[in-house]
Amino acid sequence: MPIKLTNISKSFNGNSSNKINVLKKIDLEIQDNDMVAIMGRSGAGKSTLLNIIGCLDSPDEGEYLLDGQDISKLSNSNLSNLRNSKFGFIMQDFALIEDETVRHNILLPTYFSRTKINTSCEDLAKKLGIYKLLDTKASLLSGGEKQRTAIARAIINDSKYIIADEPTGALDSVNAEMIMNIISDLHKTGKTIIIVTHDIIIAEKCQRVLTISDGHLD
Ligand SMILES: Nc1ncnc2c1ncn2[C@@H]1O[C@H](COP(=O)(O)OP(=O)(O)O)[C@@H](O)[C@H]1O
Ligand SMILES: [Mg+2]
Repeated sequence: MPIKLTNISKSFNGNSSNKINVLKKIDLEIQDNDMVAIMGRSGAGKSTLLNIIGCLDSPDEGEYLLDGQDISKLSNSNLSNLRNSKFGFIMQDFALIEDETVRHNILLPTYFSRTKINTSCEDLAKKLGIYKLLDTKASLLSGGEKQRTAIARAIINDSKYIIADEPTGALDSVNAEMIMNIISDLHKTGKTIIIVTHDIIIAEKCQRVLTISDGHLD
């Protein structure tokens, strides 16, 4: 099983030092080329779960096997190498470096990557309709252009898994649909997609829809 979470729990200390149990003994299996939507109300723990899957955060309890490897056994540097080679991240707020060009933003993950990059930045930009913007500063882009830049950055390393946290949350419906079509196309090329969304129309484009509620995933 490519992604296998068993009995994963995570809590945070709230204000008056009371513990919030965000994830309670969650089990989740994700196959290669799966396309999974994770839904749930605001604060339900969707981002927390996504961050654990993407090795940005670690669980308090439970086991996470990623392509057969026990994540908890890895050193920090091995974990960041693994994260960088396996995952592309797409965030709601795009998370671009606003002062840098589109080209620089797209190429960012390659500066940390040990693997050889086959997809050129230009080819990707052409496919995503942002080729003419390569030398434009990110701060000057529209929301849809920013998200397409973020998608190019998420796939430049040709990573196996694409993790998207409300990728259309900051976009109007036309741009949201364009971004979803791009993500669906990535799925067709064989990527495994895990996408957090509030939007039922987006969730319905996925193969599976899971909902987090009261710390449980169903
Ligand atoms: N780093 C953190 N420190 C303290 N509390 C956190 C932290 N991250 C998330 N939380 C809390 O955990 C709960 C779930 O957050 P989150 O996973 O971001 O929810 P969602 O993405 O579903 O809106 C919220 O109550 C949030 O305030
Ligand atoms: Mg969230």
